[in-house]
Amino acid sequence: MDELLYTLAINKLETLTTEHQQFALEALESGKVVHLPSYYFHSPALADKEVLSETILDGKHKNLSFDYRSGRLGGLQKKHSNPDLQATLQSFMQGYAVFSKLLVDTLLPQYCDSLQWGRTSYRPAEIKNRSSSKRKDDTRLHVDSFAASPVNGLRILRVFCNINPIGEPRVWHLGEPFSKVFRQFVPQIPAYSAKKAKLLHFIKVTKTLRSAYDHYQLHLHDRMKLDDDYQKNVTKKRMDFPAKSTWLVFTDHVSHAALSGQFLLEQTFYLPVSAMASPELSPLSYWEREKFATLDAL
Ligand code: SIN
Ligand code: FE
Repeated sequence: MDELLYTLAINKLETLTTEHQQFALEALESGKVVHLPSYYFHSPALADKEVLSETILDGKHKNLSFDYRSGRLGGLQKKHSNPDLQATLQSFMQGYAVFSKLLVDTLLPQYCDSLQWGRTSYRPAEIKNRSSSKRKDDTRLHVDSFAASPVNGLRILRVFCNINPIGEPRVWHLGEPFSKVFRQFVPQIPAYSAKKAKLLHFIKVTKTLRSAYDHYQLHLHDRMKLDDDYQKNVTKKRMDFPAKSTWLVFTDHVSHAALSGQFLLEQTFYLPVSAMASPELSPLSYWEREKFATLDAL
């Protein structure tokens, strides 16, 4: 098995074996990407030129976002000429949510009962040369953490599918294992303050109270991205995810960056650490060992 990648060369879920399931579980939890080079999402909506155009974005958001549970679509340019476009995109993204759920349920049956829905995201804009602050710049290596939406220790499991219609890859960097990232940055990260978390919630910077876990993970995300020397010198490997391929990764502990590519679908799931085969590998477990006296600190 590759150090960073577990490749699963199936083209339909029916051919998955128990061994595949075991390897995939181990690979993901130990910080690898599970790549399915011959398995991908396709939809009749992709024949619609407007779906494959970044002009559908409202200008404020980098992505379209869809909530499977409510059916709500966000980020769409309202004054669009085609009145059917919203419905087309809703069913397109719902289709991807269902595709991702079926993949995770089949590949990782151990997670099935505990998995929680997160957002579905469609990224129709080219990411290369897009300007943003360092903190928001996903071309810099980072682990995922959401500034406004605390996860309270839940794992962030994401399913990506490159739907680029002209065969362009999604190009990523993968950085060091979480244990190394953690050791590098932990001394710089200030202690959690419950008072500050209350204030951030009061002034609506966060949607719910930021937990100690979220505080630490967000600092880790920010410190990685803001450190120019680290970004330049740290060991990293370029990874090209071809068009018409799918990959899964726990982005809260895999150091990653997206360098170039256009037209990507992504589904987020949340998973309680207790549902993992090896909970001690979770970022929560690292922070507990290092920073928290007890779980109550959350
Ligand atoms: C990211 O999660 O940092 C970006 C992934 C991508 O858009 O390829
Ligand atoms: Fe990310």
